[in-house]
Amino acid sequence: MAQYTTVNGSVALITIQNPPVNALRAAVREGLFNAIQKASSDPLVRSVVLSGQNGTFCGGADIKEFGNVSSMSGPLLVEVFALMETSMKPVVAAIEGFALGGGLELALACHYRIGHSKARVGLPEVNLGLFPGRQVIAGEALKLGLLDRVTDHNTVDTALAFAKSVEGKPLDNRRLGNRPCPPLENMDAFFEEAMKRVRSRARGASAPVVCVQAVRGAATLPFHKGMELEKVLLGTLFNSGQAQASQYCFFAERAGARWSMPSGARWDTCRALSISTAAVIGLGTMGRGITVALARAGLSVVAVETQEHQLAEAQRVVSHMLKGGGQVSYSSDLQAAAEVDLVVEAVFEDMALKEKLFKLLSSICKPGTLLATNTSTLDIDRLASCTRDPQLVVGMHFFAPAHMMRLLEVVYGPRSSPEAVATAMQLGKRMGKVSVAVGNCPGFVGNRMLKPYLEQAYFLLEEGATPELVDAALEEFGFPMGVFRMTDLSGLDVGWRIRKEEGLTGPDVPAGQPTRSRHGHRYSPLGDLMCERGRYGQKSGRGWYLYDKPGGRVARSDPWLRNFLEEYRVRNALVARPIHRQEVLERCLYAIINEGFRILDDGIAASPQNIDAIYVFGYGWPKHRGGPMFYAGQVGLARVLEGLERYHLAHPDVPHLEPSSLLRRLVASGSPPIHKWNQMVKGHRSQL
Ligand code: NAI
Repeated sequence: MAQYTTVNGSVALITIQNPPVNALRAAVREGLFNAIQKASSDPLVRSVVLSGQNGTFCGGADIKEFGNVSSMSGPLLVEVFALMETSMKPVVAAIEGFALGGGLELALACHYRIGHSKARVGLPEVNLGLFPGRQVIAGEALKLGLLDRVTDHNTVDTALAFAKSVEGKPLDNRRLGNRPCPPLENMDAFFEEAMKRVRSRARGASAPVVCVQAVRGAATLPFHKGMELEKVLLGTLFNSGQAQASQYCFFAERAGARWSMPSGARWDTCRALSISTAAVIGLGTMGRGITVALARAGLSVVAVETQEHQLAEAQRVVSHMLKGGGQVSYSSDLQAAAEVDLVVEAVFEDMALKEKLFKLLSSICKPGTLLATNTSTLDIDRLASCTRDPQLVVGMHFFAPAHMMRLLEVVYGPRSSPEAVATAMQLGKRMGKVSVAVGNCPGFVGNRMLKPYLEQAYFLLEEGATPELVDAALEEFGFPMGVFRMTDLSGLDVGWRIRKEEGLTGPDVPAGQPTRSRHGHRYSPLGDLMCERGRYGQKSGRGWYLYDKPGGRVARSDPWLRNFLEEYRVRNALVARPIHRQEVLERCLYAIINEGFRILDDGIAASPQNIDAIYVFGYGWPKHRGGPMFYAGQVGLARVLEGLERYHLAHPDVPHLEPSSLLRRLVASGSPPIHKWNQMVKGHRSQL
């Protein structure tokens, strides 16, 4: 709501009160409207200050109302803005904390804006599939002309004094609608160039593109015409599936924090252990990033690595990344981990090595130390069983580069205690990660779903596609990188080593075993053949694409690969056929989605939102498509099922294409909306 008081005789102070972020829900809009009217008609009032309670100006529109725009009650935001802007008494915004989205618009409708030096302003709605851009801190906002004054003192007091000083002064040139847009040379060329750039970066998201259209309107049309155009454009965005998907992601990002375990243990009923010191074991690609992430979160870290040159190199790289900040010491001796509260193990993906290490850690570390592994696929429970306190073992699965990627999968084994899970989840939060608790199975959630995706991509190559064709389809869909560019970046040898460990390739494959079949299922050895030829991807300068040098970034098509694929097809009696973009998308994406349904049914992920958060924040699934499970709902579950049935019929030796039982049950029960899927999950206990 909006509290109304008068100060110093002539200043009306209006304070928005709607914790936690003073969002502009119906009652707030109504309160503001009435308060402005009251100030306008009160003969004693000569100026107005608008502020928000608890050090926050306003976080913007109430996203919970978005789903139901047509039934919004109370005055519209634009009506509140218009009333403020046309007020005959000066209105001064006192901005503390932040003014974001509709909150900044509200401030812009005031005649003056005073911001605290630490305040942030911006229009971040593009992240919700709507208008427009980034947040800036007060100093920059002052330079940009968004604020009129910045203060280090009490912002409301400063604004009250300021309001008094401008009482009775003319307001015409203070009204935003009257301000001219600064002239721009070559306006058309400027906007065309801007549009080109935004389009290529937006990767299929419409909000940034529509934003350029709106800014063009604002720069070239009279104010009221610009507003009309914006209204029309916003309407198209609001009704697009993309805005719904982005808003869904906003909630999915936060849903992970509210985890529960199959045992019934929940986030809100259990206490995290206190963690202030940590050891990271193994300073390769991952260990270095994890060290940086932990140190930046304020932990004192000891980084342990057995190979001398790796230790020296890691020390150089980590210090450079931390720029002198953070508390990190280095050691080649595992004993350095004796007194820490937490260990994160990031040595090679080798079960025997990790088992040995966990046994050793269990005897070295003080009682109560939480032991975490960064394994991408291995069994957490087997590692736990090597230790004295298996309840204190969890997975903390970071993504490369670990100090930058937002996702953290926290893996609980059957014996992990709720406190251990709570501790890892809370640590994830301290590191600024999107943490999602997941169950223990090969690949957990993210990598388990990646497997059928990669598999389909390889099969498509066998059947006649090229890496370029597959990648183009996926990038057009919105992935930052297609599957082949992505595996070139992460290294083809990673999966190869895992497949060797699993006995799927190399000398362990029994003689006479058909090369395109394993255990009665279709198998593509293409990735293995590439690795046998030293084609590991970017690191070796060649993979599915050619790079100018080892470690090079710019991918070029490689004629060698075309010949390699042709020879491979001839050898295996495969006839290349033309493959359409639609088939690429359906087979790759439906395979991911299908595994997602199995994961839900197996209880490995607690909700479709959790799966979607994992894909959006760890695997580059485009936010404007909401994550694989949300996308399945948008496409229509019946259509996804029909697609999988069709492809499974054509490829009966590919079990990943066989529709999951949960998907079938959902379609049979009329394809309920995503928040009801859990009710159909095996063993789900109704909350009613
Ligand atoms: P890496 O090969 O870059 O580094 C492993 C490091 O561990 C090496 O420096 C090695 O000298 C060191 N090491 C081996 N045995 C040790 C011991 N007993 N004590 C101390 N240090 C030892 O490997 P990477 O890529 O960093 O992977 C580490 C773990 O993280 C693996 O379990 C992997 O599956 C997982 N992971 C890897 C991701 C990636 O993108 N590379 C992503 C997520 C998880």
